[in-house]
Amino acid sequence: MSSLASDIRFYDYHPSRADFLGEVLTGLAITPASIPPKFFYDEHGSRLFDAICDTPEYYPTRTEVQLLRNNAVEIADCIGSGCVLIEPGAGSSEKVRLLLTALRPSAYVPMDISRDHLFAAARKLADEYPWLDLHAACMDFTAPLRLPYRPAGVRKVAFFPGSSIGNFEPADAELFLRNLRTLVGGRGGLLIGVDLKKDAAILDVAYNDAAGVTVAFNRNLLTRINRELGGDFAQDRFGHRAFYNGMRGRIEMHLVSRCNQTVHVGGHAFSFAAGDTIHTENSYKYDISQFHTLARRAGFEPVAVWTDPAQLFSVQFFDAI
Ligand code: TRP
Repeated sequence: MSSLASDIRFYDYHPSRADFLGEVLTGLAITPASIPPKFFYDEHGSRLFDAICDTPEYYPTRTEVQLLRNNAVEIADCIGSGCVLIEPGAGSSEKVRLLLTALRPSAYVPMDISRDHLFAAARKLADEYPWLDLHAACMDFTAPLRLPYRPAGVRKVAFFPGSSIGNFEPADAELFLRNLRTLVGGRGGLLIGVDLKKDAAILDVAYNDAAGVTVAFNRNLLTRINRELGGDFAQDRFGHRAFYNGMRGRIEMHLVSRCNQTVHVGGHAFSFAAGDTIHTENSYKYDISQFHTLARRAGFEPVAVWTDPAQLFSVQFFDAI
């Protein structure tokens, strides 16, 4: 641990094992079975996710990184210096580095459900940016949001990259944005990365990388359930399936049962026929106008949009209405 990193504040609101067990049991009992994507992110899952972002097929990360890098000064002009920058689901806090020098926020508040991953990333960031006031909070950002650090009279801006907004159902996305709007207050702002609608073939490939990192990421959920909740899933009895559902405008990701089988978790038995799936994630894709409508309903006014020439991805800035 570095002495430079001594002024980080850590806040630990990690969900309990009982929360994890309760949501898994509920999700496996419904038909079709479904488990919330936040449970992907144990330490290993967070590392696998970072590896997905580095695969050649997964265009969102590198496209968004380019957008943030190329437009950092303009973005900083929209936000203004000295703000408190809040990042739900900050993970490794890689993307914020592209903004810090131009933006000079007074404080950075990364939030993530993956405790060790978040705290290690915050320490590293503190070493690299010794002038930055850091408040790292381990929490589930899909639960009611609390802001551990909220100085009065300072502009608060939420940074929500990676198209994580697409992982909510559209109605829940609106509720979440409304929560962010409450969090940042009347003079606040929102800088958000939103993946755009596009050719299904590009999307299908992005969520089915050839090296199989996404398969490992999807299956890690089962390993985690076995380890933390005493489950008996056999990894090789579930396959990975991800595809674009054009009717719904979303990528769906599933674990597909390869045979008829019964699995136990926490003393409960769950039966799967061959071909039954556990739905593990959606990733909704938006048009810019569609997303503006959603954001307006949540109390945010569009100010600026940055996109790449191929219109794969967008970074958008909003002020609170
Ligand atoms: N927000 C990311 C997305 O929807 C999350 C993600 C990307 C993801 N690739 C994944 C989640 C693969 C699970 C598996 O694109």
